[in-house]
Amino acid sequence: MTEDTNSCYYQVQDNEVEIFNFAKAHNLPVLIKGPTGCGKTRFVEYMAHNLGRELVTVSCHDDLTAADLLGRHLVSSDGTFWQDGPLTRAVRHGGICYLDEIIEARKDTTVVLHSLSDHRRELHLERTGEVIKAHKDFMLVVSYNPGYQNMMKGLKPSTRQRFVAMSFDYPSPENEANILVHEAGIKLELANTLVKLGADIRRLSDIDLKAAVSTRLLIYAAKMMSSGCHAQTACLHCIIEPLTDEPETIKALSKLVNAHF
Ligand SMILES: Nc1ncnc2c1ncn2[C@@H]1O[C@H](COP(=O)(O)OP(=O)(O)O)[C@@H](O)[C@H]1O
Ligand SMILES: [Mg+2]
Repeated sequence: MTEDTNSCYYQVQDNEVEIFNFAKAHNLPVLIKGPTGCGKTRFVEYMAHNLGRELVTVSCHDDLTAADLLGRHLVSSDGTFWQDGPLTRAVRHGGICYLDEIIEARKDTTVVLHSLSDHRRELHLERTGEVIKAHKDFMLVVSYNPGYQNMMKGLKPSTRQRFVAMSFDYPSPENEANILVHEAGIKLELANTLVKLGADIRRLSDIDLKAAVSTRLLIYAAKMMSSGCHAQTACLHCIIEPLTDEPETIKALSKLVNAHF
């Protein structure tokens, strides 16, 4: 199987595929909220693949400017010319533009989305004066992690109230075990043990961990174990150390790991 097929494996959790399809049918933009590593990006890749649409993913960060999305004038030997950014390309030619961790982007970046994400469906390129009507196959999808460290940043109501929004969470135990089996090629029994460990850590993390263990980290541990890494070692380096710097917490989590393996 090729990587392409692999990247489209997605374990459906609930009614997210239906909701996405309804939104798409009416040209409505979609907002996905959920903790890091719970499957948001994979879901968007899966939907794009199913719909046969090109996917343009932009990982947002605090230096991302509107020009990074829209495009800019470049200089060549023949003078200056305009080059579309990733958002503009998708608006012009169709495709799903996915702004991952949108909350990280600067506020002026999200403002350019307003005319695009309401009934107007048009993009204003201030620098060239062009107004582009979105291609019929253009769709805007954004995601963010509403964890407490993002509470202050938030998304402005004027932005968020332009989206069909859904909350994602970690997969159910059964689904998560299937994902581990698929992604790491481990036996179901081992997958179930890792999933139980993950659930225990998530229960604890309500109290004192910055972020609960993600499905992504469980997959890392599963992969290392599948190639012979000792369970405790894999859990220490793939689950515990990425989660915390606190020696006390590392000790407590190591005990938990030992109880499972
Ligand atoms: N429902 C799912 N189906 C298939 N794989 C999943 C699912 N949820 C999580 N994963 C796996 O977990 C990894 C992290 O998920 P990702 O979509 O990157 O998380 P997010 O975008 O929410 O941070 C993916 O690469 C994939 O291997
Ligand atoms: Mg992501």
